[in-house]
Amino acid sequence: MLSIAIDGPVGAGKSTVADEVARRLGILHLDTGAMYRAVGLAVAAAGIDVQDEQAVSALCRQGGAHVDVRYENGTQVTLVNGQDVTGSIRSQEAGTAASAVSRYAAVRRMLVKRQQELAQEQPMLLDGRDIGTVVLKDATVKIYLTASPEARARRRLNQLREKGQDADFGEILHEVNTRDHQDMTRAVDPLRQAEDAVVVDSSDLDFEQTVQAILRLVEAANG
Ligand code: DC
Repeated sequence: MLSIAIDGPVGAGKSTVADEVARRLGILHLDTGAMYRAVGLAVAAAGIDVQDEQAVSALCRQGGAHVDVRYENGTQVTLVNGQDVTGSIRSQEAGTAASAVSRYAAVRRMLVKRQQELAQEQPMLLDGRDIGTVVLKDATVKIYLTASPEARARRRLNQLREKGQDADFGEILHEVNTRDHQDMTRAVDPLRQAEDAVVVDSSDLDFEQTVQAILRLVEAANG
């Protein structure tokens, strides 16, 4: 079964690139970050402090943060406890909550299991932080999509400006470096490049060039 793992740091363009690569290959894309965000929302809705690992873990064990996905016309819909949270998980709060709860083994165990089940059912492309190293150790192809912190900060700055928001490059660069440090030094399943992953550095590539680079790697691995 074809399975594609894309990991990499924040701001490397993983989600949008992954979405487009999957679309061109005619397979589903599972955005695993959405699942961590959904748990973050469920924890907050239950009135639990995201820093309280014991309470968060207990909620997961008791099935109080049940995350699932379904696909509508090939697009991922993310559900938590049966409720569609596809829109609300994009908030800054959900991202912050996700970052906190993704440190906990109980949360990761629960989500990794569901991600593996989904990838067994159909050809899929998964993107996240631990796909090549934990979720799909036997993926057909593993890609580590990265870009220099400066390039990632510049893209983020441009995104914000397009939305009419002003931002400071230095501040954004600082945020990017902080998130990298957090993701790479966390005790459980930190972000790291799998030994058999191919690095795609998108610092000097535009969107289409990045998509093409990944498609070529998939083609080479999949014959
Ligand atoms: O990619 P994102 O911003 O939607 O991810 C949200 C958070 O979830 C982020 O802090 C990293 C974490 N995450 C993770 O630990 N493992 C994954 N496979 C995907 C995301």
